[in-house]
Amino acid sequence: MARGLFSRAWMTKSYHFQARLSYVRVKYLFLTWLAVFVGSWVVYVQYSSYTELCRGRECQRTICDKYRKGVIDGSACSSLCEKGSLYFGRCLSSKPNNQVYTGSWGDVDGVIKCQLGDVVHYELGEELEPRKETVLFDKPTRGTSVEKFKEMVSSHLKAKVGEQANLAGLVTLILSFADSNRDGHVSLAEAKSAWALLQLNEVLLAVVLQGREHTPKLLGFCGDLYVVERVPYTPLYGLSLPWLLEPWVPTGLRRRLDQWFTPSWPRKAKIAIGLLELVEDVFHGPFGSFLVCDMRAGSFGYTERYDLRLVDGRRVVPEEAFRRAMHLRRCHDDDDCAYGADCRAACNPTEQRCMGQVSQPNLARACGALKDYLLRGVPALVQEELEKQLYACMALQGSAEHMEMEHALILNNLKTLLWKQISHTKDS
Ligand SMILES: Nc1ncnc2c1ncn2[C@@H]1O[C@H](COP(=O)(O)OP(=O)(O)O)[C@@H](O)[C@H]1O
Ligand SMILES: [Mg+2]
Repeated sequence: MARGLFSRAWMTKSYHFQARLSYVRVKYLFLTWLAVFVGSWVVYVQYSSYTELCRGRECQRTICDKYRKGVIDGSACSSLCEKGSLYFGRCLSSKPNNQVYTGSWGDVDGVIKCQLGDVVHYELGEELEPRKETVLFDKPTRGTSVEKFKEMVSSHLKAKVGEQANLAGLVTLILSFADSNRDGHVSLAEAKSAWALLQLNEVLLAVVLQGREHTPKLLGFCGDLYVVERVPYTPLYGLSLPWLLEPWVPTGLRRRLDQWFTPSWPRKAKIAIGLLELVEDVFHGPFGSFLVCDMRAGSFGYTERYDLRLVDGRRVVPEEAFRRAMHLRRCHDDDDCAYGADCRAACNPTEQRCMGQVSQPNLARACGALKDYLLRGVPALVQEELEKQLYACMALQGSAEHMEMEHALILNNLKTLLWKQISHTKDS
């Protein structure tokens, strides 16, 4: 009897044990399945967004196809399409129509930028950088003489940078840039590449500012694909997180992370001087004025010697082109008259058209962008003075009466103040 009881108890126990075991098993099986499901979903999303974003191969195929047919030519064509000495490395694109890759060309580290035309436009500022024309490489047409091409370039530039700029000088610069094999003659294929590149704000700026040091050098091109020097440190401050992580990082933590990933104050001051010099270079320069319409940290980087470089010049537009595009734009309020992250004009409510004048000059917006960056960790001795100058700078208005004089004064004072602080440190 006792034995029977014991064996029944044992059986119940073992039954319970087995039931529990299979419950645990099912639970783990389910969890494993869930993990595999979620994991493959994440991999799938990453992969599909990667393949949508990173289409370097497609870029290379399109460009090389045109090169082999003799439609386009340029200094990077043979390395890219024949010798295979220009490689696409890591994908840096954040928009599918603007392909950005690290690249190595022989022993030079560069960044390859290439346009893919068939993707919808993201922004209203389309008029400022038309796309369709460039993909087809249909201009200039066969039979266009060099003189005619010069005229084409000249009237294109007149519309972009305005008449007061040194147009003849700029045309010469562009023609020597177009003659990629330096044989003293611009072939039709070279002219087609140059024409396509000329539509891009970033390239125009790089040509205008060549010889100055705040834009990466143009190393070569083929069609509207071009290679620029690689800037070792980007963005200007903070950490660039993978986009999947980005929405999950709270703003407070983000700000703290950004603070950790910045150089020491004297180095920041040197970088800031670089930005002020860039602003000075594009303000009423020999080739007209340009507006830096994206002052966010992602547009800039710096070198090992803490010299500032502009890495994304697509939102740097000639002031004249901005004025024209704004005059054409209909509006209800000022918000309709914005371009890029930072350029704003006023809306004329009676005509319902945007006014051409940008509300704040580059300098005021640069000071706004530099304020937190420079005031964090500033030596106590200069804090008050720096703060005062930065606020005066941010208050500068595009329409102010003695704007030019005030502009020069504020710029000089700020540069002098910063230089004084760092001239004795080794980084300067
Ligand atoms: N010359 C360069 N050197 C180093 N990194 C660069 C350079 N140009 C672009 N990058 C990097 O590639 C990223 C994307 O390039 P960008 O021209 O800003 O295109 P998009 O604005 O479409 O993302 C930049 O944020 C920057 O980090
Ligand atoms: Mg960018």
